Amino acid sequence: MNHKIAIIGGGNLGQAIAEGLISSGFITAADLIITRRNTRALETLAQQGVQVSSDNAYAVQQAGWIIFAVKPFQIKSILDELKPVLDPARHTLISVISGIWIKDIRESLGTDFALFRAMPNTAIAIRESMTCICSYNATAEQISYVTAIFDLLGKTVFIEEQLMDAATVLGACGTAYAMRYIRANIQGGIEIGFNAKTAALIAAQTVKGAAELLLTQNTHPEQEIDKVTTPKGCTIAGLNEMEHQGFSSSLIRGLVASYKKITSGM
Ligand SMILES: NC(=O)c1ccc[n+]([C@@H]2O[C@H](COP(=O)([O-])OP(=O)(O)OC[C@H]3O[C@@H](n4cnc5c(N)ncnc54)[C@H](OP(=O)(O)O)[C@@H]3O)[C@@H](O)[C@H]2O)c1
Repeated sequence: MNHKIAIIGGGNLGQAIAEGLISSGFITAADLIITRRNTRALETLAQQGVQVSSDNAYAVQQAGWIIFAVKPFQIKSILDELKPVLDPARHTLISVISGIWIKDIRESLGTDFALFRAMPNTAIAIRESMTCICSYNATAEQISYVTAIFDLLGKTVFIEEQLMDAATVLGACGTAYAMRYIRANIQGGIEIGFNAKTAALIAAQTVKGAAELLLTQNTHPEQEIDKVTTPKGCTIAGLNEMEHQGFSSSLIRGLVASYKKITSGM
């Protein structure tokens, strides 16, 4: 298998993947080719030695691993254009496009390729994504290569494709939910005396530390809460008041509302 990677759609996500692959040393810049119509927007990658092109067919012919990172409404015409040059014996296809199912790609191409769907989040730009992946018709070797790509860009988990909508809500929308939680902390922090900059630093670093505790200690959130809730203390008083106001319930209801929206086909 040709180890070169082509990224079709060098926008926010496509460029973040490219930057992550190069900075981690996973591949050399010369082994990466990235496309978009406005190639001037890829100047920074071109300066690092990445091949930049507006010709998707050319890019596909250079590579063995093809990552599609265009908007959902753009993929159908791109697959139609690439169908004559895509070859299941040469190409493994990876889509990071929300809402495009493996059956959609199979229908467009009409041939059984090894296919992957990956759902990262915006923290992929700093190589801290949570990426949920599913595969179709892939060998163990292909699965380990694609896992290696996304492991470089954060953490990965393999899931059934039927969980992809749920993965989008928990993993990708989840970034927005966490941001709103942090913003509320900043607002509260200002009310109790901090300036906005200091409140933002304290709120963000505290959330980062809390998440790291769970990820590194393998503990349940409630175990970590027990460590900071002194009997009759201020933490439990605040937590219980939040729960009286529906804190956990509102989060769960919001998450389920996002899920209902995504599964209703918007
Ligand atoms: N951003 C995220 O964190 C995130 C997370 C999970 C999933 N996704 C999914 O990833 C996909 C891309 O998201 P994004 O935020 O990176 O969007 P984006 O910034 O709009 O990137 C899409 C890119 O595709 C290029 N493009 C359009 N038509 C093309 C064509 N015919 N050939 C080659 N390139 C073409 C566009 O550039 P030109 O206009 O110059 O061609 C644009 O830069 C979406 O489907 C989204 O659902 C994104």
